[in-house]
Amino acid sequence: MNPPRPAEPDTRHDLGWTPIAEEAERAARVLHPEANQLPRPHRRRVLTVANQKGGVGKTTSAVNLAAALAVHGLKTLVVDLDPQGNASTALNVDHRSGTPSVYEVLLGEVSLADAAAVSEQSPNLYCVPATIDLAGAEIELVSMSARESRLKEALTSEAIDQIGVDYIFIDCPPSLGLLTVNAMVAAQEVLIPIQCEYYALEGLGQLLSNIDLVQRHLNPELAVSTILLTMYDGRTKLADQVTNEVRNHFGDTVLKTVIPRSVKVSEAPGYGQTVLAYDPGSRGAMSYMDAAREIAERGAKGSS
Ligand SMILES: Nc1ncnc2c1ncn2[C@@H]1O[C@H](COP(=O)(O)OP(=O)(O)OP(=O)(O)O)[C@@H](O)[C@H]1O
Ligand SMILES: [Mg+2]
Repeated sequence: MNPPRPAEPDTRHDLGWTPIAEEAERAARVLHPEANQLPRPHRRRVLTVANQKGGVGKTTSAVNLAAALAVHGLKTLVVDLDPQGNASTALNVDHRSGTPSVYEVLLGEVSLADAAAVSEQSPNLYCVPATIDLAGAEIELVSMSARESRLKEALTSEAIDQIGVDYIFIDCPPSLGLLTVNAMVAAQEVLIPIQCEYYALEGLGQLLSNIDLVQRHLNPELAVSTILLTMYDGRTKLADQVTNEVRNHFGDTVLKTVIPRSVKVSEAPGYGQTVLAYDPGSRGAMSYMDAAREIAERGAKGSS
């Protein structure tokens, strides 16, 4: 019989590692993001946040990821392309009828910079709001020339340079209509939020084939770069099943960070705030910070 081996020294402990120390370090990162700048992307990134399924966390993810990048020093723009105007509400940006908005930008009447308002959440965070006027755009666009590429025409390098942003998130409505097509034509990347729920994967095939069509006919650069699992509820087996299925199917495209279901996340827009401003130490805020870090690190490597 072999003599018992001496116990392995616990190096983590020797180095002063404890779960509380790790948590404290994480909280410090969240509460003092300015001390933890994220790398700038190797080139400007335009991400369309799309899923024709309603209520899966498109808007919540667009505004909170944008806010997380902004508080880490990266200039970021959210384009609210949903007539519901939820992203504009969450960022507390004026979006009453008559305000220069994405609608006038699509019509070519107002430049991107003139429609972009700075959000009070961060001087690095801008939003092109959506007003109720956008509700008619889906139909009005049908008869317009270059109807699929109106947003792309507005998002020229010069126009973006005027605002000077590194990241643009386009928040899509829950449909695959012309507004979403405009977003896909204007972007290089699609970010798909998937809710950890039973019907989450239904309709995903249709979304992917639409992305494929746009990629083949209108925007060869387009690719699904990022999948984000949202509203994860650790108490249910179902959430794990969905998570595993999505990871098996999409591999590394899926961010390691999963956004938990959290009351703070759902309360924040009611105060015109992102969860980062509303409760920076909450699990919801921390997970959006972690997801933003993953996105930024992928962008800096150029692997996106
Ligand atoms: N992690 C979360 N925890 C709890 N509630 C959440 C979370 N993420 C989103 N919600 C809530 O779920 C609802 C739907 O989220 P959200 O509006 O972001 O989805 P959406 O995909 O943009 O919806 P729509 O398709 O209508 O545009 C909102 O009430 C939001 O506050
Ligand atoms: Mg939305």
